[in-house]
Amino acid sequence: MKISFTNKVVLVTGATRGIGKQIAEDFAQLGAKLILTGTRRDQIDRLNREAKRKSQRRTYYCVDFADLTSLDRFLEDLKRYGRIDICVNNAGINRLNDIDQTRIEDWDDMVNVNLRAPYMLMRHVSRLMKKNRYGRIINISSIFGVISRAQRSVYTTTKYGLRGMTVTAALELAKCNVLVNAVSPGFIRTDMTAKNLSKKEQKGLIRQIPMGRFGDPEEISRAILFLASRYNTYITGQNIIIDGGYVSV
Ligand code: NAI
Repeated sequence: MKISFTNKVVLVTGATRGIGKQIAEDFAQLGAKLILTGTRRDQIDRLNREAKRKSQRRTYYCVDFADLTSLDRFLEDLKRYGRIDICVNNAGINRLNDIDQTRIEDWDDMVNVNLRAPYMLMRHVSRLMKKNRYGRIINISSIFGVISRAQRSVYTTTKYGLRGMTVTAALELAKCNVLVNAVSPGFIRTDMTAKNLSKKEQKGLIRQIPMGRFGDPEEISRAILFLASRYNTYITGQNIIIDGGYVSV
């Protein structure tokens, strides 16, 4: 079985670090042409210069999904692409707080980044995919879109919501050969995990994970590559949990 994305145009949001960066590199290895996003202008300019120098088939866009004008500008930019075959909604933020301490600004940012942006991007790409009668959409939810823990009321709201929109889009697009799925990572070694969990908390969690360790970004990426590939012809509306067994205990 050999997966190839030659001649496929792939959009990955939040592709400058962590899970999204791994997904982007894996798609690139397998021949895809990439549309990628990040949030820091200096980094985006550097990555685009590097891509040009190395003749990589990728373009980075600087987009802040918390800023509705910035998202609108990106949606305008996307109009230059007549085809987007695969869309991975990966960008996400997680600010922890007890429900009674939650700042409304954090609610707005998390809802805009984790829910509104994937919705607007699905709205855009599904029009192209329907027309082309081909498409694969993968939304990165979370185990906190299936269970929850304290201090994650907003994050959990958005990640459950993302799963909900995945199911509905899958039903609407099934007849057009557009398959829509969610992938829900457990604890993965990225900046987000390092920021939100102290070393002590990490050790405690590892004891609760049947496989006895956190996951790595490539363990998420591999499932996404399969779901996006020509080998996935009949899986749609699903949520694949990749957590070393954590939620099954
Ligand atoms: P990360 O914090 O390492 O990277 C997040 C990515 O999102 C970055 O590329 C960043 O540019 C982008 N991003 C952040 N704020 C943004 C904004 N305002 N506008 C546009 N883009 C923005 O995160 P990580 O760990 O790689 O997470 C990726 C996805 O996986 C997220 O949706 C996260 O919720 C989800 N996830 C991660 C888990 C983990 O253990 N790391 C567990 C479960 C889900």
